[in-house]
Amino acid sequence: MRQFFTISSIIFLQLIFPVKCNSTNPFSTANLFSFAETQYKSQNELLPIADTYPRTVNIKGELVSTKLDNWTEGFFPGCLWCIYDNNKQDAWKEMALKWTLPLEKLQFLTSHHDIGFLMYCSYGNAYRLTKEEKYKDILIQSAKSLCTRFSEKTGCIKSWNYYQSWDGKNKLYYPVIIDNMMNLELLYFASEATGDKHFAEIATKHAETTAKNHFRPDYSSYHVVNYDPETGQVLFRGTSQGFADNSTWSRGQAWGIYGYTMVYRFTKRKEFLELAKNLADYWLNNKNLPADGIPYWDFNAGQKGFVAAPWAVKHPVPAIQPRDASAAAITCSALFELSSYLKNDKKYYNAAVKILKTLSSPAYLAEPGTNGNFLLKHCTGNLPLGSEVDVPLIYADYYYLEALHRYKNSKAQK
Ligand code: GLY
Repeated sequence: MRQFFTISSIIFLQLIFPVKCNSTNPFSTANLFSFAETQYKSQNELLPIADTYPRTVNIKGELVSTKLDNWTEGFFPGCLWCIYDNNKQDAWKEMALKWTLPLEKLQFLTSHHDIGFLMYCSYGNAYRLTKEEKYKDILIQSAKSLCTRFSEKTGCIKSWNYYQSWDGKNKLYYPVIIDNMMNLELLYFASEATGDKHFAEIATKHAETTAKNHFRPDYSSYHVVNYDPETGQVLFRGTSQGFADNSTWSRGQAWGIYGYTMVYRFTKRKEFLELAKNLADYWLNNKNLPADGIPYWDFNAGQKGFVAAPWAVKHPVPAIQPRDASAAAITCSALFELSSYLKNDKKYYNAAVKILKTLSSPAYLAEPGTNGNFLLKHCTGNLPLGSEVDVPLIYADYYYLEALHRYKNSKAQK
């Protein structure tokens, strides 16, 4: 509802003041990066010590930050590295290091799969931009930690240790979520850095197993697949963060598009490229994708044939489904990369530019000094938990900045 009023007010204001929208209009990567600098400078000043990491805002609009106990701590340093990559100013390198270095101890984390997000967005970018050997060693140890969660029997990396379905009927001892595709970049990096193929073999095996089990014939994705740890047999396909077991959670689909595009980058295997294209086509051709290109939080939320999982008893299904700008940002960045692997592509490139421009418009981009100093508005974190609905999210900002960078590079190459 809040979003409906926001959008209506913006349309109304645009009719009265067609030119003056916000400081980032018209669309220009220089203006948008400078806006990001303004926001994050304030964010950094508000958090003088890097012991909790910016994630979102609460219902009162106050900053919510996390200690080193979540999956999102790598994104704020990742955003700062992206800004440094763009402006090459030492002050931004120092700020990025301030937020990267405290994550060092996470290299030994083996209790869940998110070490890829945590370490590759932070230390991965740090190593890419500084070539400091110590960061490479931390990344290699992080990859080793992730490999402890791989099993030859299932052929994939376990995401969570144990998870119970909403109705308590399904006890999942080997749950793998589509998001896990994103962790593979860390493993491919480790193989290239060490010359040890083992990391890449695990990554590719995980990608093959996921390709076999995580998608429906129309290339929509399941969020969660549970395996029998002994036989590798699939025991359950469903959701945790989506609307229903048979629905397509938008961010899950986005992780899939990004994940398989990235796996193609390292393997050059055609079937992964084809899968990335098919997953992207499901998204772009979807009749439930709003005209502005930013999806609802789930492609099937509230529709006939999709029965909300039992979470809806606790948190009723909203009358107007919220959007998820984070899913849009991830897909946008992925489509720029996907396009770069295809000769004479216009479809994926134009779709990426369209999403980027929509996200950069006043409907989704914050005014300077607002939005808890995050960049994007209107993201959905975990609606079934009633958590982080229609808010900024740090990972939305990360993939938005990456997409902006990819767009800028694509223009420079033309
Ligand atoms: N892996 C967490 C998320 O996408 O919400």
